[in-house]
Amino acid sequence: MKVPLLDLITQYQSIKAEIDRKVLEVLESQYFILGPVVSECESLLSQYIHHEYCLGISSGTDALLIAMMAEDIGPGDEIITSPYTFFATGGCIARLGATPVFVDIDPGSFNIDPSRIEEKITTKTRAIVPVHLYGQLADMEAIMKIAQKHNLIVIEDAAQALGARIGSRHAGTFGHYGCFSFFPSKNLGGAGDGGFVTTHSSERFEKLKKLRVHGSAPKYFHSLIGGNFRLDAIQAAVICAKLPYLDGWINARRANAGHYRSLIREAGLLDRGQLTLPDEVCGFHSYNQFVIVTQPGHRDPLRKALTDAGVGTEIYYPVPLHLQECFQYLGYKTGDFPLSEFSSTHSLAIPIYPELTDQQKIHVVEHIARYFNQPSN
Ligand SMILES: Cc1ncc(COP(=O)(O)O)c(C=O)c1O
Repeated sequence: MKVPLLDLITQYQSIKAEIDRKVLEVLESQYFILGPVVSECESLLSQYIHHEYCLGISSGTDALLIAMMAEDIGPGDEIITSPYTFFATGGCIARLGATPVFVDIDPGSFNIDPSRIEEKITTKTRAIVPVHLYGQLADMEAIMKIAQKHNLIVIEDAAQALGARIGSRHAGTFGHYGCFSFFPSKNLGGAGDGGFVTTHSSERFEKLKKLRVHGSAPKYFHSLIGGNFRLDAIQAAVICAKLPYLDGWINARRANAGHYRSLIREAGLLDRGQLTLPDEVCGFHSYNQFVIVTQPGHRDPLRKALTDAGVGTEIYYPVPLHLQECFQYLGYKTGDFPLSEFSSTHSLAIPIYPELTDQQKIHVVEHIARYFNQPSN
């Protein structure tokens, strides 16, 4: 049996008519740059996350970049974030000439540990960029308290967390900015790159709108140096068509996570300490990824055994940011963030997409158990 890490074709086939119709609307209008479908997409997103100001952006990376640009983050500024994240989080900070300052994670949630943030705050600290990894919110209550106390900007990297929430409050609406991605593997994926940024303030929204079009308003009059950060109209059409299905998909992901937890428990993998599962510690998890953690020495051979059994897996992420070659100039070394380093070498994402069948989940867990039940393991 094949269990790919992600199956976008099945999802597309299930709502093909709606996606095709909306994309055709853009093609027939020939209105490709911003325009009515991008506006419609922004207003649907606003309704979905109950947030007034949503702006379609060219990617999740650019959403982070434009939020930082809107705060004039640059040389001399220190920005606190997690080292256990996708590169864009730290990359955007460094691209603007600011210094990423890393804080280790809470191993139960994989998210930045708020109790370690304050010791890293200096007079140069401008912002905190929490990442809601795998679809689970970072501890935003604690982070916002620290930010308020020290007068810091909070830019949520919610790229993986559209639909995650605490009560009725959505990821991306706690901080000054929320940054989201429509990368195809996200819970709400486009047909290419895309994303959006949120903010609470009308002044920040106006600045973001300007920065999105090279800092100009009116056209050709540039009061700021911005960029081309526009969400493509074709991507907006795909998102408009898919958004009504998002909650159903998230619920299916959550049901898959629950099913995995019971299958893994029933197989005795937790009792024997062969695997640990991350905690659901902060609100409603949207399960962009389901990540298991192995005992030392078992992650890579388990991954190989699963590949041989037709099961797709991925490592998010094999090298934490403080150990990336391009960040050597920051002066970090192995051992500086042991919990992130441990997660990088012991965690493995298994398929969690909404269309996964029971038989496929059973196949995945059977092969995990088969690996651990070999006499040599
Ligand atoms: C945590 C995180 N931040 C930022 C990004 C960047 O988003 P994009 O790929 O849309 O640029 C991603 C997704 O790839 C991500 O997972």
